[in-house]
Amino acid sequence: MPDDSPSAPPPRDKPLCDLSDLALFGARPLFDAPRHVNRPQAPDRAVFDALLDQVWDRRWFTNDGPLVQELERRLCDYLDVPHCVLTSNATAALDLVIHALGLEGEVLLPSFTFISTAHLLHLRKLTPVFCEVGADMMLDPADCAARMTTRTAAIIATHVWGSPCDIDALQALCDDRGIALLLDAAHAFGGRYKGRRLGGFGRAEVFSLHATKAFHACEGGLVTTSDADLAARLRLTRNFGFSGPDRVECAGVNAKMSELHAAMGLANLAGFEDSRAAAMRIHGAYARGLEGLPGLRLKSPPPEEENNHHYLVTEIDAAGFGMDRDALLALLTAENVWARRYFHPGGHRSPPHLGHSPALPRTEALCARVLLLPAGAAATSEEVAQICRLIRFAAARAPEIRAAAGA
Ligand SMILES: Cc1ncc(COP(=O)(O)O)c(C=O)c1O
Repeated sequence: MPDDSPSAPPPRDKPLCDLSDLALFGARPLFDAPRHVNRPQAPDRAVFDALLDQVWDRRWFTNDGPLVQELERRLCDYLDVPHCVLTSNATAALDLVIHALGLEGEVLLPSFTFISTAHLLHLRKLTPVFCEVGADMMLDPADCAARMTTRTAAIIATHVWGSPCDIDALQALCDDRGIALLLDAAHAFGGRYKGRRLGGFGRAEVFSLHATKAFHACEGGLVTTSDADLAARLRLTRNFGFSGPDRVECAGVNAKMSELHAAMGLANLAGFEDSRAAAMRIHGAYARGLEGLPGLRLKSPPPEEENNHHYLVTEIDAAGFGMDRDALLALLTAENVWARRYFHPGGHRSPPHLGHSPALPRTEALCARVLLLPAGAAATSEEVAQICRLIRFAAARAPEIRAAAGA
């Protein structure tokens, strides 16, 4: 709740002039409530309600219901892939794929990705082999090649920030060894690689439909593949191995998507291109607001990628900006701008993987400078203008802020 009592500091409707105007030094925060990096997108309520009415009328809430089937069909059309299998979340989806392919031994993956993949490998008694990033912040194929052994069973690469990783180079490496390339497309809904929609590459791609993603179903996961046998296996194993009411084909778990989640997915899919356009406008507002600021690099995907623009990624160079990334993060957080370090500190430096991997200097340097800012379709251009003014002020007065914060 905003504090409007007489003793509360005055609201921040005046321009930033002095250090005492910053929340770090006692002023009222710029925003009364946190601004998150990826505030979830809420679909058109009427579209969602109409879908829920169908679910209520049918009393069919889960177990491969009509809305799940419809969402799978629509996703096949949109992503131009033969098989879409929806699940309860992306981590469960990847687990089903790993199990279905019978992977054993070592799996190469980037350290600069969400921790879920490394954890999953660990829990499945596979060995995660963390690899370096390239200049594009993505898994470096040359580093992968250097870390391959006779025990390497697969590569799981991530399309970080919705941009495609170097699929051709990674696929060539996998083809040489006869192993599977799996792609973590959690960030990448709607993106393209060489003109083709992401979702159609590797042995399978896995999307997250978590609420913070560009396209979401509150919670959910999606496997896309051209392998009909793999898709059939996933359909069985997401539902305890059942192929009929009392017929079990194999071991399986409960990784099903419910009808309520599918309703959210369908409603969001209908509005996805509008959301993408809104997120792109937000990206443009940041590009203008931060233009020319020394020591701050904004990552801008090329137009042919058709990136979903859900992530606003900056890199802070302490020498050029005047303060390091963590000092800027502290300043922003105090103002209720909940910027985030990603994927800090890197998978290879997080328990339980810590100590089982050599140092990865390029990944570690990247983890020290990446800062994500509140963005996506649910952000507003006014918020962006205020955040950019704040960041410009921080850069202009960096030496004084550093000294005062130290004191
Ligand atoms: C790159 C990446 N991979 C995997 C996941 C896991 O997705 P889920 O939460 O749907 O299991 C996430 C979630 O944030 C992610 O960002």
